[in-house]
Amino acid sequence: MAVNTYMVCLDDYEYYAKTHLSLMTWSFYSCGTDDEITLEENRRAFRRIRLKPRVLRDVSTRDLKTTILCREIDIPICISPTALHGWAHPDAEAGAARASEMFNTCMVLCTISSMSLEDICFANTGGTKWLNIYLFRNRHVTADLVLRAERSGCKGIVVSIDYCEPGNKRRLARVTGDIIAKNVDIPNFEKYYKELLDKSTNEKVKSDPSATWADIDWIKSITKLPIILKGIMTVEDALIAVEHKVDAIMVSNHGGRQLDGVPATIDVLAGISRAVGDKIEVYMDGGVRTGTDVLKALALGARAVFIGRPVLYGLAYKVAELFKTLAHR
Ligand SMILES: Cc1cc2nc3c(=O)[nH]c(=O)nc-3n(C[C@H](O)[C@H](O)[C@H](O)COP(=O)(O)O)c2cc1C
Repeated sequence: MAVNTYMVCLDDYEYYAKTHLSLMTWSFYSCGTDDEITLEENRRAFRRIRLKPRVLRDVSTRDLKTTILCREIDIPICISPTALHGWAHPDAEAGAARASEMFNTCMVLCTISSMSLEDICFANTGGTKWLNIYLFRNRHVTADLVLRAERSGCKGIVVSIDYCEPGNKRRLARVTGDIIAKNVDIPNFEKYYKELLDKSTNEKVKSDPSATWADIDWIKSITKLPIILKGIMTVEDALIAVEHKVDAIMVSNHGGRQLDGVPATIDVLAGISRAVGDKIEVYMDGGVRTGTDVLKALALGARAVFIGRPVLYGLAYKVAELFKTLAHR
């Protein structure tokens, strides 16, 4: 007798990915750093939060629409930048980009992608796209990406500020394989990520550990696009971001892939959003897996949430099905 397996929650997509992707791919997507304390805590923290429902409020009409940086999106669930979608499905980032446009949400394109950012934008001409960049040691590489993002119709630049050095991904270090990426055109780019992991010195595209707030001013000076800082985890840094007049911040610990031992994002969100008030928009990512997680994050001050790994897992299955599951109403 044939048995149908229905995907009813994001954990089902994760399980599917774990049992269908190669060990290398699964390890790359799912791992955190060191003991993976922060990776696990991101999800555990959501489970500790309880909701206090009010009743008899006529909820027959429900609308999930919101705006981010003045652009309307249909659901407050957007796509975080994650590398190398091509490992999950041949459609790669184009598949995720199409799903993003179909659900009228925002997708953050990753620098380390399986397709060029131009090709990804071509797959999603009408939706909201932002480009994620790093402050590379060679600032020309960063500046060139910003220019290409502008030309390709991206509406924001997401600067990852929590990546001075690559996190120590033990689970990934135990497996090997080649990595093929686009966007940063240098010889031997296939070996780029491996080299980062090996802590060798590919100076051109190494993230710059000497970066400071002055570099945020520099990014602002080279583009008119809004700047979103990704990787804020403290009230102190959130207030400095406001001083530097960025347009938005994303409370993020890189999905537990950078400094292990930092708190869950949902645990620091309320303090940060209270501190910045309505001066800039606040988003969050890290461990969002259910509709009630989204609700908790919005209640604690996020304007929208972003999801990382689930998109990769959805891509390994059918990314559009995943959005239907998450946005079920
Ligand atoms: C495979 C993978 C690659 C990632 N690459 C980047 C990246 O290039 N830049 C970045 O800012 N964050 C990157 N992240 C972190 C995500 O943007 C996001 O912060 C994190 O995945 C959110 O947590 P979640 O996966 O629990 O939803 C990556 C995450 C994964 C899983």
